[in-house]
Amino acid sequence: MNKEPYTPPSIRRVSQGSANPQRLGRVPVMDSIDGVFVSDLIRQHGSPLFVFSESNLRDKIREAREAFESVYPEVQFAWSYKTNYLNAICRLFHQEGSIAEVVSGFEYEKARSNGMPGDKIIFNGPWKDPKSLRRAVEEGAMIQIDNRDEMLALARIADERKADLQVGVRIHVDTGTHAVWSKFGFSVEDGEALRVIRWMRDHTRLKVRGIHCHAGTFLLDANAYVIATEKVVELAVSSEESGAGVIEYLNLGGGFASHARLHGQYLPPEQATPSFDSYAEAICGTIKRRWPSGHKLPKLFLETGRAMVDEAGYLISSVVAVKQRSMDPGASSLAAYGKGAVTPGNVLGAYGKGAVPAAVGTQRNAVVLDAGINILYTSAWYQPTIHPASTPASAAQPTTVYGCLCMNIDVIREEASLPDLKAGDPVVLHPVGAYNLTQSMQFITYRPAVVMIDPDCGVHLIRRREVLEDVQGPEEIPDHLMEKILSTKF
Ligand SMILES: Cc1ncc(COP(=O)(O)O)c(C=O)c1O
Repeated sequence: MNKEPYTPPSIRRVSQGSANPQRLGRVPVMDSIDGVFVSDLIRQHGSPLFVFSESNLRDKIREAREAFESVYPEVQFAWSYKTNYLNAICRLFHQEGSIAEVVSGFEYEKARSNGMPGDKIIFNGPWKDPKSLRRAVEEGAMIQIDNRDEMLALARIADERKADLQVGVRIHVDTGTHAVWSKFGFSVEDGEALRVIRWMRDHTRLKVRGIHCHAGTFLLDANAYVIATEKVVELAVSSEESGAGVIEYLNLGGGFASHARLHGQYLPPEQATPSFDSYAEAICGTIKRRWPSGHKLPKLFLETGRAMVDEAGYLISSVVAVKQRSMDPGASSLAAYGKGAVTPGNVLGAYGKGAVPAAVGTQRNAVVLDAGINILYTSAWYQPTIHPASTPASAAQPTTVYGCLCMNIDVIREEASLPDLKAGDPVVLHPVGAYNLTQSMQFITYRPAVVMIDPDCGVHLIRRREVLEDVQGPEEIPDHLMEKILSTKF
């Protein structure tokens, strides 16, 4: 008898628990977004379609500002461009008093074109191209130094300009709550950050005026900010004590969790996601406790991204096909089609003698949507809730939700709770406002249109659907490939 190979037991740490007995709970119908019917949106703008709620965006930033400004004297939010750099969205945050936080020359240009002056731009990132770095210096941007090479490049620019240059220093810290983001900035625990600050003090015209720490993203444990802030304050105090000058600001980056749900997350977001008040208490309470008494509190910068924009974003999509998926552990989908061997020349054999394949073993509903993971990049980490957009004809049951790409990995939800759906039925995926648009790629399909709904139910197109020319515009065809294809004999 063949023995099964031994698989050693393993323990996987899932911070919010794993099995969720409520996972098949009823998902409410969402037939409208901010008072506008999904069917009308599809009629006007097609499917798939990203939809943003202006009210939700404004409510979020106001709520976050209120939470921090009510407990701390000087707070400045900066809109993290990479989270969503559609101009309409950036401008809304600028209107609401957020300056810009950018991580590349491209984003810097975007912020400038959205009316941000250089001194209202925080320039982060591990690589700032030389031209953009110089421009940022000339325009007085708040540059956060990520590494020694960048520090040396800035020191050279300051020397050439024969002028002191104020900078911030980015650090990474171990909060004990998640893996250290050691790719960015200098280590504080092993003394590297302080050594670099001292070196700048002794050898350059760079004046360190800020300490920056973006400890991670989607931090469900507000205590991570207590630890990070303690370490930031400690470094600021050591820097001042070393004679490097006054630290005028602390920047705690972003990282607040949105109401998305991680794969494997046990608690629903309403219970798992800390409030802005708890993040504010973690950060501001710690600064106030730890900052040397009698010294003016430093200005606090925050660059929160996903928590500001995720819930405001919806993706309307439509079912294009309905399938049954075999859940038999041993049965591959082809084996489920009977005994006929499948070879490239014998595809029909897989279906037996012309008969419709019979279901084998346990079957599960599956649907194919007209949107793929190329526009829902975050579904690799988070499970968007999928709402039917019309009244269901049946009870909800576990359903696999595939995207429309010709790629096996294009699975949006392995198991969503959905009623029986048919081709043409619309659904709404939520929340999807953070990172999906900036990380989406043109792959196989055109990227869809994006609209914003204003508080009076006005629908504004903020990015039109792509067309062929958007994709192939930058391409060139060498002369010898321009000859008429039609004269070729195939
Ligand atoms: C430097 C910096 N600031 C802010 C953010 C925004 O983070 P989040 O969307 O987690 O709030 C990021 C994102 O990774 C970042 O790298």
